[in-house]
Amino acid sequence: MDAASLATVESELRRAIVGVECRVPVAGGEREFINLDHAASTPPFVAVLAAVNALAPWYANVHRGAGFKARMSTSAFESAREEIHRFLGADPRDDVTLFTRNTTDAVNHLAGILEFDRESVVLVSGMEHHSNDLPWRRVARVIHVDLTPDGAIDEADLQGKLHHWRGKVRLLAVTGASNVTGLLNPIHRYARWAHAAGAEIVVDAAQLAAHRPIRMHQGPAADHLDYVVFSGHKVYAPFGVGVLAGPRRRLERGAPYQVGGGTVDLVDRQSVSWTSLPDREEGGTPCVIGAVALAAATREYLRLGWDSIKDQERRVARQAWDALGQIPGLTLYAVSPVDRLGVIAFNLEGKPHALVAAILNHEWGIGTRSGCFCAHPYLQHLLEIDDGRMAMIRAEIASGDRSGIPGAVRVSFGLGTTLEEVRTLVTALSEISQGRHRHDYLLDRATGDCLPKGVSDSAYSHLMAGSHA
Ligand SMILES: Cc1ncc(COP(=O)(O)O)c(C=O)c1O
Repeated sequence: MDAASLATVESELRRAIVGVECRVPVAGGEREFINLDHAASTPPFVAVLAAVNALAPWYANVHRGAGFKARMSTSAFESAREEIHRFLGADPRDDVTLFTRNTTDAVNHLAGILEFDRESVVLVSGMEHHSNDLPWRRVARVIHVDLTPDGAIDEADLQGKLHHWRGKVRLLAVTGASNVTGLLNPIHRYARWAHAAGAEIVVDAAQLAAHRPIRMHQGPAADHLDYVVFSGHKVYAPFGVGVLAGPRRRLERGAPYQVGGGTVDLVDRQSVSWTSLPDREEGGTPCVIGAVALAAATREYLRLGWDSIKDQERRVARQAWDALGQIPGLTLYAVSPVDRLGVIAFNLEGKPHALVAAILNHEWGIGTRSGCFCAHPYLQHLLEIDDGRMAMIRAEIASGDRSGIPGAVRVSFGLGTTLEEVRTLVTALSEISQGRHRHDYLLDRATGDCLPKGVSDSAYSHLMAGSHA
């Protein structure tokens, strides 16, 4: 693509997103905010907000309502489910798409449905977000898959463990893309290996879904993904839903994970007949607006086109990798030469991660995140922290001091991130690396956060007009 076409794609992607032009206060004035925190959450697409506004006047509770609005809402809710099902390439007959609150809820939900016991082995990759690790520790015997020194999944270890635990291993839990390093995992290949060992696979697509198309049933049958989970708020539909998709025959077992309204066909004082999926696993009033918003986001992805999205993101990520790597004293993590998303973790020598993130925000209007990104075991590996040091940090936290929590700074690019924004980031980090900043900063021991002296966020609440009482 030539420069002019690339600029057109860039501005089309930017126009699709709400709030890209917001200005924020910084030391000595204000700037257009540079959002480099998309891995945490994304603003709505313009089209998503329009869909929410279109539904709002017609909104009512779904399912058994006889009124016109209830019927309209039910139809919108069930159409949204079908669209998301198709977006995931789920099997039209055998799979079911369930709405949850978010990815965390979806994984807990799945762990609650699959009938594991302490003999059941779940292999969990060492790069997982806590949400695809801790729920499995509750219900099964978790064995972690090792990582290579540069932070990728150690495939020899994965294959070795699948072989060793054959007959006992029931599930491989793996992320489609790391929320720390952006590394993309070859999930269909891992699915094939898991199936050959008699296990299923759950793919945490919380990061992947925002950047790459997902086809649950792509290629040979053995490569299919059994379960996929993701969150609306990471795909430009931040209205409170997540998704769990998987085979109906596996998800419709025993009693529902959560029992209550909507999960039954008939109840008397002694007995209950559970209803069928999806209602059976969506107890209580579902988040209809969130589901409709998420379906609108999937349509927007298809309209914008995966090729344009991938090209633009790769271009931005490549430029960022190359330029960040040139900054003296900046360490990049997981420098393996594999395909990756625009999610980059780094540290600046001699500067606490919380301080770097605070300066980026308060002086450059660049929103990033710092810490361990809910992936402590992965950060422990990347930062080469031994168990003794982890124990010391645990003791410090127990005594109320979070100032020594290790971590990194993370920048994560979205559909609207531009090369210009990356250039500003690189300039900012070069300045910070040389000790140049305007404010004095205080590290709050209780929270581990860094704040400039005398600056308070609450002074700016008027910027979100109407959002505060
Ligand atoms: C890879 C990954 N998995 C799971 C989650 C949890 O998602 P949620 O907070 O929407 O439940 C996140 C959130 O950052 C994530 O990045």
